Amino acid sequence: MSTTCIVTGGAGFIGSNFLHMLAELRPDWRVVNLDALTYAGNLENLEALAGRPGYSFVHGDITKGEDVERAFASAKGSERTLLVHFAAESHVDRSIQSGLPFVLTNVAGTQVLLDAARKHGTQRFVHVSTDEVYGSLGASGFFTEDTPLQPNSPYSASKTGSDLLVRAAHHTHGMDCVITRCSNNYGPYQFPEKFLPLMIANASADKSIPVYGDGQQVRDWLYVRDHCEAILAALEKGKSGEVYNIGGNNEMKNLDLVKQVLGALGKPESLITYVKDRPGHDRRYAIDASKIRSELGWSPRFTFAQALPLTIRWYQSQGPWLQRVTSGAYREYYARQYGG
Ligand code: NAD
Ligand code: TYD
Repeated sequence: MSTTCIVTGGAGFIGSNFLHMLAELRPDWRVVNLDALTYAGNLENLEALAGRPGYSFVHGDITKGEDVERAFASAKGSERTLLVHFAAESHVDRSIQSGLPFVLTNVAGTQVLLDAARKHGTQRFVHVSTDEVYGSLGASGFFTEDTPLQPNSPYSASKTGSDLLVRAAHHTHGMDCVITRCSNNYGPYQFPEKFLPLMIANASADKSIPVYGDGQQVRDWLYVRDHCEAILAALEKGKSGEVYNIGGNNEMKNLDLVKQVLGALGKPESLITYVKDRPGHDRRYAIDASKIRSELGWSPRFTFAQALPLTIRWYQSQGPWLQRVTSGAYREYYARQYGG
């Protein structure tokens, strides 16, 4: 069956990895990438796909109905159309500085997409969400798909809003929707405001690494390729109306993560600098991913020991990429967030 997959946010970190994976694993699919190219979107991430038959880019904003219509127009002609929704404002610290862009893109933008997908009879809508919608854990336990939604940051609250709109579209309109909720990703093409690429970039330049609070917060780190494969499994095999948690069973305290990265780079721990804690900082995330493992047969293929060196090597080989994405507006953000 001929397939077109509309991908929103394909110029960002996970979206671009997903598009590279589709080119490899589903080469016969047509792909339409709808992206507004905010500070986090970068077409350089997709250079290898430009000009590839079956791939098209639509420069547009998911909050604007006319832009979304252009993406659906590009998708016309296949027997089935699928949609994978990555586009979002994605950084917690920015949502603390200013929450409104998160409501506009993550909440309103998702509803605009849902309305268009319903109008055009899209066969499946996969909404890419986050474990952060569940809030924070104590010292033990895991998030399951039944854990109550208790988001703590403007980012996670806006993602929760979008999850609930997707749920409502399924319940009210019978739309075929699947929601995935993943833990922290790392890998190529991640914008260096996020902790892992930030520490690689800073340590490589012998700059200090800002650790929020006591550095004892716990995150579950998953290699981005594993996340992309889980999303593909949800797209092709997930059950409509279901939520699937995705995680790497790889919990780490922030401070231990920094020490590992410094060790891998041969840099001294004296680069660690404790800075003011993030307001409302979630203490611990940990994912129970047994549902996607048992029902969809997905499991991560990369261990942290394998994928951290791959990631570090990728950033080390990408000097110009890092320089370009960290120019201008990013430097202003960095000064606002960390001072100086
Ligand atoms: P990112 O910030 O790297 O990329 C977001 C992309 O969306 C960019 O290309 C940007 O240009 C685009 N975009 C933003 N606003 C838009 C708009 N209004 N219209 C069209 N495009 C717009 O984000 P990411 O880290 O790749 O995350 C992708 C998705 O995965 C998000 O929905 C995020 O909530 C979710 N997620 C991320 C992680 C993680 O660790 N990064 C973990 C779990 C879930
Ligand atoms: P981040 O990559 O922003 O992801 P999230 O907040 O979505 O989990 O941050 C990961 C962890 O690292 C989080 O506990 C906050 C912490 N952190 C720092 O300690 N210093 C930093 O400069 C940043 C960006 C994050």
